[in-house]
Amino acid sequence: MSTLEQLKAELKALGAEYAKIKTLPESERKDFGQKINDKKQEIINKIKALESEQTSANIKPIDITAPFGINSNPIAIETGSKHPLMVELDRVIDIYSRMGFGVVESRQLDDEFHMFDALNFPKGHPARDGYDTFRTEEGFIPPAHTSTMQHRVLKNYKKNLDNNGQIAVVIPGRVFRNEDVDATHEHTFYQCEGIFVSKNATFAEMLGVLKNFFETYYGQNLKIKTQPGFFPFTEPSIELLIEKPKSLGGKGDGWLEMLGCGMIHPNVLKNAGIDPEQYKGFAWGGGIDRLVMLKYQLNDIRYFESAKLDFLKEF
Ligand code: DAH
Repeated sequence: MSTLEQLKAELKALGAEYAKIKTLPESERKDFGQKINDKKQEIINKIKALESEQTSANIKPIDITAPFGINSNPIAIETGSKHPLMVELDRVIDIYSRMGFGVVESRQLDDEFHMFDALNFPKGHPARDGYDTFRTEEGFIPPAHTSTMQHRVLKNYKKNLDNNGQIAVVIPGRVFRNEDVDATHEHTFYQCEGIFVSKNATFAEMLGVLKNFFETYYGQNLKIKTQPGFFPFTEPSIELLIEKPKSLGGKGDGWLEMLGCGMIHPNVLKNAGIDPEQYKGFAWGGGIDRLVMLKYQLNDIRYFESAKLDFLKEF
């Protein structure tokens, strides 16, 4: 049987045959040309057959049960991994779950009613401007905060209250804002909302839940403090600050604003069919990206959405 080299040499040699055509009488040229063409095709077919035989002989059988990256497995597949924000979101949810909170995922398209009316934003009130974000041509709103879910959750879990229970739910979700993007602002980011309603929920309970959350997440004792805020859906409304964790470069003198919170406004409860005379609630909402940036001391929020593999692989 011919080797690949022999066949290739034969193919090359045909070049000289082609050159002969010119020297032949006119009447013989066609037949002669046809013969060389057939010969050429024959050699090419043989080469192809031989090459494909050799390639299949080179492929070793794959052991699909072997772990990737093991030497015996000839294909090195780089497996994907969870995005760092999703890994951290799981941790956040885990902490709240252990405190007894259920989880409801937020949605990525909402409407005027859930974004504003149900949350006690009066029509035409300037507070709406702060949250004014994108709109689809049909008038739907990619939510600017996870609070858009409050009404649905309250209405849906009112039955817990009717059964002498309480409402305790956290709502993680992706939110969208009409922001100029820089190292600390993104147009797309993640928040986690929390809602608690019972016959006698108190402000102190809220601070306890949140302090516990931050201490667990950062794995150390932390001081917290509050400063007044304004949200139409809470009264009173506050911003919660934590002492910058020492292990994360804090020197015991820095405070970081972590989230907005407050006692749920009676109108928000009423809108969901819950009697504010009988029930009290508190709610909060804060960014996941910021939480994670602090934990890993990252200084640019844009990396999260950048698809930079070098960055993502560090987690
Ligand atoms: N949704 C607010 C924001 O994104 C944060 C917030 C404040 C959420 C108070 C709440 C709350 O649930 O009660 O700015």
